[in-house]
Amino acid sequence: MLSTSLVGLASLATLSSAACTRELLVDAANKWVFLQSSGDHSDFDNLSYNLTYLENNKTASIISGLPAWPQVIAFNRSVYDTTLCKTFTEIIVTDPAHPYVIATQMYLGAEGNVEKIDSLVTDKGDWAFNATGYYYWNSLEKWDPIPPEKRMSRDALKAVADTYPDRCNNKSVVVPFNTPCARLEGGAYTGRGNLSANTCDIGGLPEHVLMSNRRYVIDEEMGTVDIFLGFQGLDRTRPNEGTPDSHFFRIEEGKIKYIHTVSACFVDGCGMNGTGIPPLRVA
Ligand SMILES: *[C@@H]1O[C@H](CO)[C@@H](O)[C@H](O)[C@H]1NC(C)=O
Ligand SMILES: *[C@@H]1O[C@H](CO)[C@@H](O)[C@H](O)[C@H]1NC(C)=O
Ligand SMILES: *[C@@H]1O[C@H](CO)[C@@H](O)[C@H](O)[C@H]1NC(C)=O
Ligand SMILES: *[C@@H]1O[C@H](CO)[C@@H](O)[C@H](O)[C@H]1NC(C)=O
Ligand SMILES: *[C@@H]1O[C@H](CO)[C@@H](O)[C@H](O)[C@H]1NC(C)=O
Ligand SMILES: *[C@@H]1O[C@H](CO)[C@@H](O)[C@H](O)[C@H]1NC(C)=O
Ligand SMILES: *[C@@H]1O[C@H](CO)[C@@H](O)[C@H](O)[C@H]1NC(C)=O
Ligand SMILES: *[C@@H]1O[C@H](CO)[C@@H](O)[C@H](O)[C@H]1NC(C)=O
Repeated sequence: MLSTSLVGLASLATLSSAACTRELLVDAANKWVFLQSSGDHSDFDNLSYNLTYLENNKTASIISGLPAWPQVIAFNRSVYDTTLCKTFTEIIVTDPAHPYVIATQMYLGAEGNVEKIDSLVTDKGDWAFNATGYYYWNSLEKWDPIPPEKRMSRDALKAVADTYPDRCNNKSVVVPFNTPCARLEGGAYTGRGNLSANTCDIGGLPEHVLMSNRRYVIDEEMGTVDIFLGFQGLDRTRPNEGTPDSHFFRIEEGKIKYIHTVSACFVDGCGMNGTGIPPLRVA
């Protein structure tokens, strides 16, 4: 929690309620990315006095957590939910000294200031972590805006995205996978073969795993749904608890084309006791 005495947080509680525009969200997300690159929050003038900053689902501070440490950002991507007034951002840091993959949801309040930053900061020891792989496979994907005539409603996007976490606890749920389709998980990619013919229908999805506490960022223009959720038992040291996780879906014409996941293990290696990347499949 930030104290109100912090210089530079010139948030104006007296501003009248502003409609949540895409421009406002773009501005906030850009400031977030800049903050992570500079390590200095003083240019982020749209932070609320009572900002809540969560790092891997734990209360932390932007003045001592990762945002305080400038990073060379190899790639960033943001999407915007004007209905919930939220943003979602992917940041990839490939610096060999300390690579990271960061997934962040931000919540803006009625005055247009960021009130909550919910960030998953993953690095070595997290599920299938490989920032170089995340960067490489991501660079082969196409995430252009959806042409206006092909855009889906937010309800339709949410329904498609929810089939995937629902399926993990109910194998009767049918997930509409596109062909091609690929899942980028920590840095490992399911689409290693023919990139124009891949499918995500490759089995290996769990059958009795609850994906709980879902928090959404839905962008109709980008055809995306990001879901922050608790992935039950992904970290084997806490089998009955949700591991902090982001599932980011790109949906085209009703079908899932890409899935990017980021999972912050409670302990390095997620309790798998392996020396390398934890296996991709969850039994
Ligand atoms: C907040 O964001 C808006 C829109 O980008 C901007 O006009 C305003 O000056 C910013 N700063 C404060 C302190 O509200
Ligand atoms: C922060 O302050 C705003 C405006 O007073 C309020 O609406 C919001 O609920 C507060 N958020 C938290 C997390 O306390
Ligand atoms: C974030 O990505 C945008 C678009 O690719 C790029 O122009 C910008 O420089 C990036 N920001 C940082 C801090 O790397
Ligand atoms: C990470 O991904 C890159 C790109 O696919 C690959 O060359 C490298 O071997 C991977 N590293 C590990 C440790 O798997
Ligand atoms: C499992 O999914 C099927 C198909 O969507 C649905 O009919 C059924 O009610 C679901 N079962 C539970 C327990 O939710
Ligand atoms: C990849 O798959 C597509 C679609 O099935 C096919 O047209 C193409 O020839 C394949 N390419 C290779 C290199 O196998
Ligand atoms: C995060 O924290 C909240 C509140 O403390 C809790 O309800 C939730 O289950 C936690 N885990 C995840 C992954 O959201
Ligand atoms: C990992 O090792 C611990 C301690 O030896 C053991 O209790 C646990 O069952 C092991 N977990 C797995 C997934 O092998």
